[in-house]
Amino acid sequence: MTFQEKLEKNIWGLLIMVAIVVSIGGIVEIVPLFYLDNTVEKLTKDEDSIRPYTALELEGRDVYIREGCYLCHSQMIRPFRDEKERYGHYSLAAESKYDHPFQWGSKRTGPDLARVGGKYSDAWQRQHLRAPRSLVPESVMPNYAFFDKNIIDDSLTERKMRALSKVGVPYTDADFAGAAAAVHGKSEMDAVVAYLQVLGTMVKFEKGKDYRE
Ligand code: HEC
Repeated sequence: MTFQEKLEKNIWGLLIMVAIVVSIGGIVEIVPLFYLDNTVEKLTKDEDSIRPYTALELEGRDVYIREGCYLCHSQMIRPFRDEKERYGHYSLAAESKYDHPFQWGSKRTGPDLARVGGKYSDAWQRQHLRAPRSLVPESVMPNYAFFDKNIIDDSLTERKMRALSKVGVPYTDADFAGAAAAVHGKSEMDAVVAYLQVLGTMVKFEKGKDYRE
């Protein structure tokens, strides 16, 4: 009888071997998580302009998630030359440190949006969301004209910010106090455009500087 045959007929032997194999798999998956902090690069004080989203940007981000924009758009520029030339500096882990959950995505039916902030005017973004084909005739992106009509529910904003502060986003008491007023009467269109316009703009990259060193 081979070792394998013996083991398959011995319930305790089999259980012990299964436990060993599963533990090895578990260690391989779990141990790297203890070193997660090391993977977030340290920015210098001048560069670390990464701040939590404002109340309006946060509401825009929630609409982005609700509409499933991430199913067609990634927010993760990989460190490859072609990506860098098309979208700009590759994404840094530090840039999504206040994103819960992050919006990296894995599907690019449309372009990556990690650095779309400031690429177009607010007016362009509004028109594009209302009717993408009026600006990009071959676009397959849906129309989101209804964003203009939907008004943000300002009674929830503060609670959303408080929930995020529980997982480490450094909102202050002043942020909580001003949350409802900051989004009062704003449409979902205002919020989504505010969110899109801040994407990728928080770190001020020095030309030629690369964070891999
Ligand atoms: C069915 C897939 C699909 C969905 C869903 C989708 N998009 Fe798009 N998006 C595209 C495609 C394709 C393009 C490229 C053509 C164009 O500019 O319209 C695009 C382009 C864009 C651009 C311009 C990017 C650039 O660099 O030119 C922005 C901004 C954008 N989408 C935002 C959004 C937002 C916000 C949502 C959710 C409310 C969304 N998209 C949902 C497919 C999609």
